[in-house]
Amino acid sequence: MSYADHLISIKQLLLKNNAKIIAHYYVDEQVQRLAEDTGGFVGDSLEMARYGSKQKETTLIVAGVKFMGETAKILNPDKKVLMLDIEATCSLDTGCDYAEFKEFCDTHNDRDVVVYANTSAKVKSISDWVVTSSMAVPLIEHLTSLGKKLIWAPDKYLGNYVIDTTGADMLLWDGSCIVHEEYKTIELKNMIAKHPDCDVLVHPESPRSIIQLANTVGSTTRLIEASKASKKKYIIVATEKGILYQMKKFSPNKIFLEAPTEGEGATCKSCGRCPWMNLNIVQKLLDVFNAKTNEIVLSRDIINKAKKPIDRMINFNLNNKINRAS
Ligand code: 13P
Repeated sequence: MSYADHLISIKQLLLKNNAKIIAHYYVDEQVQRLAEDTGGFVGDSLEMARYGSKQKETTLIVAGVKFMGETAKILNPDKKVLMLDIEATCSLDTGCDYAEFKEFCDTHNDRDVVVYANTSAKVKSISDWVVTSSMAVPLIEHLTSLGKKLIWAPDKYLGNYVIDTTGADMLLWDGSCIVHEEYKTIELKNMIAKHPDCDVLVHPESPRSIIQLANTVGSTTRLIEASKASKKKYIIVATEKGILYQMKKFSPNKIFLEAPTEGEGATCKSCGRCPWMNLNIVQKLLDVFNAKTNEIVLSRDIINKAKKPIDRMINFNLNNKINRAS
């Protein structure tokens, strides 16, 4: 089937089922195009959360990973939220077990609990704040100015970046993203040396030694904006390679290079591609209304509890005017 045929079929299905697609920048290029061309949305994790709650459609199709679907459900409990693949998870989410995390929080109950959006609804339900990469620094700066001591989970690299930037007093959970953790420092330095006329764009889920080589560090949206604004011929990108579709679309004359994930003698587990984001393929968009096993289901109790820290995140964001360029 051609792209045009897929587009016609998916438009009809969306209309019939009163549905809209919300996709993340990391998913397959064709899925991102179909989201855009059917009047849906492609964005970073915060924008996806905001966008979903403003739609009139009764069904939201989330092309991304499970925590994104759960956030959409928490913010829209009366809508049906379908994932393209319910098995699409995130190593940060699976690396932060609810019972273990609760025990950690109980042991340090003098601290406020800040969790990254890449966590389960249950983990969010025992947290004070949810953050995404686009607002982590301003929020933690704000909480630090109030004299708060914090727990940060689950991403230790993003946590360290936030501490380096803000000087916050945070206890870190030992989690990581299997994609960003793979970037290799020596090989990245070699790549930069080979292309001196370059900008280096890094997502803050990367290790400190990679972040230190960056011209821009930020959320997926921020990195796309930086790639547009860059005057350099070469742009080295240290984040999931699905984002390259958007970057190349806006800057067809620039040369985009994937930051190296395979060092000498090292084994590459992810190679810059998230295995779970990769489950979001076009065929699943065609099957999504028949799949039956891909609906996000959460108890009212979890929804009510997890909604509070998510609402705080969204309200903080609005008040601080963090926008698409942040
Ligand atoms: P963004 O919030 O920057 O889109 O990041 C989401 C994510 O899951 C990164 O791994």
